[in-house]
Amino acid sequence: MTYNITLLPGDGIGPEVITSARKVIEATGVSINWEIVEAGNDAIKKHGTPLPEFVIDSIRNNKIALKGPITTPVGKGFKSVNVRLRQELNLFANVRPIKSFEGIDSIHQNVDFVIVRENTEDLYAGIEHMVGEDAAESIKIITRKASERICKFAFELAKSQGRKKVTLVHKANIMKLSDGLFLESGKKCAKSYEDIQFEDIIVDAMSMKLVQFPQDYDIIVAPNLYGDILSDLSAGLIGGLGLAAGANIGHDIAVFEPIHGSALDISGKDMANPTSAILSGVMMLKHIGEYGSAMKIEDALAKVFRDKRYRTIDLGGDLGTKEFTQKIIDTM
Ligand code: NAI
Repeated sequence: MTYNITLLPGDGIGPEVITSARKVIEATGVSINWEIVEAGNDAIKKHGTPLPEFVIDSIRNNKIALKGPITTPVGKGFKSVNVRLRQELNLFANVRPIKSFEGIDSIHQNVDFVIVRENTEDLYAGIEHMVGEDAAESIKIITRKASERICKFAFELAKSQGRKKVTLVHKANIMKLSDGLFLESGKKCAKSYEDIQFEDIIVDAMSMKLVQFPQDYDIIVAPNLYGDILSDLSAGLIGGLGLAAGANIGHDIAVFEPIHGSALDISGKDMANPTSAILSGVMMLKHIGEYGSAMKIEDALAKVFRDKRYRTIDLGGDLGTKEFTQKIIDTM
């Protein structure tokens, strides 16, 4: 069987890490017809918009995409391509596994949890305006529908992966209505999953506990902004942004992408760690049912990481993106 999959190389280190992921995926023998489309800076130059309609059409058609990071400049300009894609395609769940690797020197070992981030609302709704010249207002949207949907998703993920606990993160002591509604939705949902333990925790306390005791967590469910911040923090616990994969999941469409950004400071220098993009590809392969190919890659990565000679620059080694990619392929 040949799969039709949309490929978005993205900006900055995007094309480097996505090429690496593509090569590793293809080396497993799985047959994919990649539909390559440009979004981000190249699309602005060619089409006057960072997210041309044909990109969305391609993903809608193929239902699966592998995507590199896309730059979103701070301040005025285009709305984030990532936020628009997630909203337009209703990719309501952002799933980010955080798992430490044997052999990688990191702040913690034996970490294995998944962050489930609500992906469509909260302060990312993009509703902002100036109030006069000296004040600005951003609106935080939390709906019962989206909150119940993401909490149900988190519990279902826990069930399917045999995980024992769901931890809901909020700040309902201050945002009593919005985060209060998110918390209420989680508590309601928990009643349908009696075999899975449920707890809630305020986001500031969670930040500290994650740094101290990340092994205590299994599935973490959070509104958009807290989920975003806690994901980068969590990637730091296991060795950095180069190691953390992600998936944006909707009802029938899924877009897989590393959690890191376009890393302009190292782009074009063959310095990026492609592991997060490769692992996003692994998530994609599992999603389409290609477990054998996914396992080949996971085994090769684990083997390479156990041998301290093979490290990319972010992990203290000297392998470039291309050389590291070849090492994974040779190991497979
Ligand atoms: P970033 O994630 O691009 O980089 C943060 C730091 O981590 C940098 O020092 C970078 O060199 C390092 N890093 C990131 N990925 C790495 C990798 N694979 N290997 C080695 N080192 C790596 O975050 P930053 O600089 O805040 O964002 C840059 C741009 O990316 C911004 O425009 C931002 O909006 C965008 N962005 C896009 C995302 C997406 O498309 N999903 C996600 C996050 C940020």
